[in-house]
Amino acid sequence: MGWTLLILLVVLTVVHGNPTVTVRSGSGPTVGFNRHPNSVPLGEDTQTTTEEESEVVEEVMMTGVLNPSHYPARRAATVVQHYLNTRYGSPYRWLFLSTVNSGSAEDVADKGRKYQLELTMQETISNVSGQCSAELLFPGGEGQNAPQVQVSCEGLCQSNTTAQEEAFYQQHRASNNLASGSNIPDGYGHMEPSMKPFWQLGGVASSFIMLRESNESTLYNMAQVANFTQLETEKDQLRFNYHVLLHEMISQEIIHWKLLVTWSPEQGVQVLQTELQPKCHHCEAPPSTTN
Ligand SMILES: *[C@@H]1O[C@H](CO)[C@@H](O)[C@H](O)[C@H]1NC(C)=O
Ligand SMILES: *[C@@H]1O[C@H](CO)[C@@H](O)[C@H](O)[C@H]1NC(C)=O
Ligand SMILES: *[C@@H]1O[C@H](CO)[C@@H](O)[C@H](O)[C@H]1NC(C)=O
Ligand SMILES: *[C@@H]1O[C@H](CO)[C@@H](O)[C@H](O)[C@H]1NC(C)=O
Repeated sequence: MGWTLLILLVVLTVVHGNPTVTVRSGSGPTVGFNRHPNSVPLGEDTQTTTEEESEVVEEVMMTGVLNPSHYPARRAATVVQHYLNTRYGSPYRWLFLSTVNSGSAEDVADKGRKYQLELTMQETISNVSGQCSAELLFPGGEGQNAPQVQVSCEGLCQSNTTAQEEAFYQQHRASNNLASGSNIPDGYGHMEPSMKPFWQLGGVASSFIMLRESNESTLYNMAQVANFTQLETEKDQLRFNYHVLLHEMISQEIIHWKLLVTWSPEQGVQVLQTELQPKCHHCEAPPSTTN
């Protein structure tokens, strides 16, 4: 399991162009190998230092013009990605951050911290890309409040996926053959072509959680659909239970969530229930790294 995810995460890192996986320097008990079998096992001697790493341990939030390739800008940009997926995502439309072109951050009295970003976003399936201008507010104050996003894009959502979506909807609407699947993708990064729309829908649904849970110190990514089962169609909405694994890249934690997801071409993706699963305390340890 640990190695499965490791391989997967490395693949995802490459595919989606996320920053290099790094571990806090002086890795203390919080990234202990045994307590978090899915964390990246960097030994003392193999530990690498990257530019991003110094960003990770940066305690004071950056203000002013941001380096587009550093964590503060990328973390905020990834929140915009999640927001766009909650608005426009479908089993055939899944948006990713391609590049941060520019960004800045400022403190807003009594409100929190505001980011201005110029981004290039890309659709995974069509490869269509577009330019987005976003304003993002991480609310200050007590408790965890979801970031507020305003964004306008040009050139995105021009790919016409209507025909594919309609065909998928008609295929799965009748409940005589309810779909299900697990380990998407598998430990080698493979998935059956028929599973791809379900993986994409799981990714879009995960963005609802990742948007809600994000703050200035997090960077979430969906690692895997552990499993999904289709439920009976209700009120013309396809319905699914999903169990997804999210990767929080700063703490290197793998977080399990169960979601109740509905979709139809008219109503789009909706996440009706979310349930955080308890931390995995007795996961199998990964195989020894010494040979
Ligand atoms: C999108 O890009 C990938 C990799 O560059 C390529 O394999 C794929 O065929 C492209 N898809 C389309 C629809 O152009
Ligand atoms: C997308 O294609 C469908 C037919 O496949 C067509 O009916 C629809 O008008 C098109 N939508 C856009 C926005 O081009
Ligand atoms: C950000 O979220 C993480 C994970 O939920 C949490 O541990 C941390 O306290 C939050 N930080 C802030 C500044 O709210
Ligand atoms: C889905 O995967 C999770 C995590 O591996 C597991 O705990 C759960 O039992 C699985 N559920 C089903 C219905 O297979």
